[in-house]
This record gives sequence, C-alpha cells and structure tokens, in this order.
Amino acid sequence: MSVIAIDGTFASGKGTLGKGLAAHYGLPYLDTGKLYRATAKRVLDAGGDVTSSVDGTLAAKAITADELSDPILKSGPIGAAASKVSVHPDVRAALFDFQRDFAAQGGVLDGRDIGTVICPDADVKLYVTASPEERAKRRHTELTGYGETLSIDDVLAQLIERDTRDSTRATAPLKPAEDAHMIDTTGMSIAQVLQTAVSICDAVLTR
Ligand code: DC
Repeated sequence: MSVIAIDGTFASGKGTLGKGLAAHYGLPYLDTGKLYRATAKRVLDAGGDVTSSVDGTLAAKAITADELSDPILKSGPIGAAASKVSVHPDVRAALFDFQRDFAAQGGVLDGRDIGTVICPDADVKLYVTASPEERAKRRHTELTGYGETLSIDDVLAQLIERDTRDSTRATAPLKPAEDAHMIDTTGMSIAQVLQTAVSICDAVLTR
C-alpha cells in the first residue's frame, strides 16, 4: 500500500503525472485541488465571499465526493477563487480528514501541501514545476479548449499571482518537502515526465 505525494506549481503537469502514475501502479488518484475548487464553487453559488474564512469553512465542511467530478471545477475563475479560499486555516482543516482517509488506503495525491502536511510519511514525494512561460502556454491551450478567451500574457500574469499567493500564505504554503524529488518538466513531453517519475518511484519503492 504505497502513497505517492505530488506537489508543485500551477499548470506544472502534476495532475497529468498523478493520473499517469496511478494508472502505472494501479493506485487510486486524488486531485486535492478539486476539494478547494469545489469549496470555492459552493461559496460562489451561495453568493458568499471566498476571502471570508466563515463562508469558506461552512462550504468545505459540506463537500461530498460526488461534487469533485463537476467539469465546471476546471474553469479559470473557479481556480482563482480556490486559491483565495485555500488561504484560510479553518478551510484547510475542514478538508484534512477527506485527504487523510483517502491516503490511508494507499494512492497518488497531488496538490500543494501533500508531502509537507497531508502525507509527511509518503513513500515517495515528488515536486513538479516548469518555467512560467511554458506553464502559461500549456494552461492557455487547456483554457482555450474549454472555450475561455484569455491571452497568453493574461494567463502568465494570473499564474504568477496564483503561485505567489499559494507559496506565501501562512498555513501550508506551497514548497517542496525536504525529502522531495524535484522534476522540472520544462521542455519535456508527458511521456518523458512519466518515465522520469516512474524511475524515481521504482528506485524508492523497491529499496
Ligand atoms: O491544483 P489546482 O490548480 O486545482 O488548485 C487550485 C487551488 O487550490 C490552488 O491555487 C491552491 C489550492 N490548493 C491548496 O491550497 N492545496 C492543495 N493541496 C491543492 C490545492
């Protein structure tokens, strides 16, 4: 029963890698960003304020697994709202058990604080990033596919704002765990990223 923790910057490819590793090792996969996105959506749907800890915590406590597959969660505005709602310590605490219960069965989890806070004893910790320009290009292609019409420069500006908020918040900021293996995916194909990660995981898991 292995736990693979993946953290990394926005649009670094950690979700694609997480799904790939889960399929490779036959493990369940959890995109923990969806919990914060679903929380933000609940707050917005209720006419609340994502900068309010009270609104965010009420929403986080009400999340069910069914909500996580709603395709609207992938939209840019919900992602930005998720970054804002995730700043509140009480929101993070309300989502902690869901993630811990999932990890207790073994699996691949990706997010911002998996190796540092949620699964500090994970068997393998990966930290994934890529240059801001490449991440902006990837995210732009993805958003265009959802029908959103932002320029690459706008996406780049949002990405820098998001990374800054996620990595400078007081509680569980985005940062590599001390024992994380770093993967810079700039210039790498999806297959190359997966192969690099599998090599790291195989080396650690068979030790
Ligand atoms: O990975 P994502 O873009 O779906 O995440 C959306 C936001 O949720 C991200 O900007 C910060 C927050 N988040 C977090 O704080 N901790 C996690 N483990 C996952 C996401």
